[in-house]
Amino acid sequence: MKTGIMDVRTRIAGTGSYLPDKILTNFDLEKMVDTTDEWIVSRSGIRERRVAAAEQATSDLATEAGRNALEMAAIGPEDLDLIIVATLTPDHFFPSTAGLVQRNLGATRAAAFDLEAACTGFIYALTVGDLFIRSGSFRTVLVIGAEVLTRFIDWEDRNTCVLFGDGAGAAVMKPSDDPGQGILSTHLHSDGRLADMLMAPGGASRMPPTHEVVEKKLNTVKMRGNEVFKIAVTKLSEVVDEVLQANGLREDEIDFLVPHQANLRIIQATARKLRMPMEKVIVTVDRHGNTSAASVPLALDEAVRGGRIKRGDRVLLEAFGGGLTWGAALVRW
Ligand code: ACO
Repeated sequence: MKTGIMDVRTRIAGTGSYLPDKILTNFDLEKMVDTTDEWIVSRSGIRERRVAAAEQATSDLATEAGRNALEMAAIGPEDLDLIIVATLTPDHFFPSTAGLVQRNLGATRAAAFDLEAACTGFIYALTVGDLFIRSGSFRTVLVIGAEVLTRFIDWEDRNTCVLFGDGAGAAVMKPSDDPGQGILSTHLHSDGRLADMLMAPGGASRMPPTHEVVEKKLNTVKMRGNEVFKIAVTKLSEVVDEVLQANGLREDEIDFLVPHQANLRIIQATARKLRMPMEKVIVTVDRHGNTSAASVPLALDEAVRGGRIKRGDRVLLEAFGGGLTWGAALVRW
């Protein structure tokens, strides 16, 4: 899907993030499963990840990131028309995590709902927020990607437990006064035929959380990592072409890449595709691991607050994840 057809553009007026305090290093993991720091760093680029405190759920992380984004945008919670939380690890099946964030922030006027597109969730949420704003339905939208993935990991499975972490990132979206500034296009994709490559098979309606399901850890992330890796590299390359074509741009006209942080080797492949030096690629996977829907907004916030991304820069956001889903958004900052 290509958007970008209406006159009004949506700008990102503020970003925010939150990471739990607890750090779990590769050396900690060496004591838990048969792995090494060397293997994890060379295969994934991950050195450490954050783990939420026992009393923290996804809405708690999301609320902090949201508050942070509201501060940068210099608006109050009562200004919000809509809150979207992208997550695959909600506090509950219902009510929505977005509703809990609304309550926590005191955003009394806002509508609120969750969106699930696994690691691509933030790109999907940004697209939905953009459409609500450009249609004139809403003026101020808070989109958040937040996960407490470490609760849905089999800590005895070295294939997966070394990869994931917890965190939240957020963005405030508003109409732009400058037609040259804001979201230039968004591109969403999905292939449900590949759903079982990356999933939590149990714990929901297909396989309710019985003792047996929990004992067999069927409610945790299962991934055919090697196959997912290859498809991710191919599909992200295709979506980069789509973004360039849709906007009539060359590779060297993209100033920054803010990729989903699943694996440094996947990120490097996308950078090569863009012929972009790694200095222009925002990398947090070494410190955050894969935080699913939170990874792109966490990286974006780090780059914006660190002064790397500046007004006028063309910033390409992309993600790939369960579903399988993938997508991208091009933003003129
Ligand atoms: N420590 C040591 N050895 C390990 C570990 C570990 N933590 N994990 C796996 N291995 C072993 C495997 O058992 C295998 O051994 P074998 O050859 O004897 O069977 C060997 O290492 C190689 O395994 P591969 O799967 O080939 O390793 P690969 O180079 O593909 O790296 C990884 C694995 C990091 C998972 C990679 O495939 C990857 O990043 N995949 C994509 C992940 C992704 O993008 N997911 C999408 C987003 S996630 C979401 O939506 C929730």
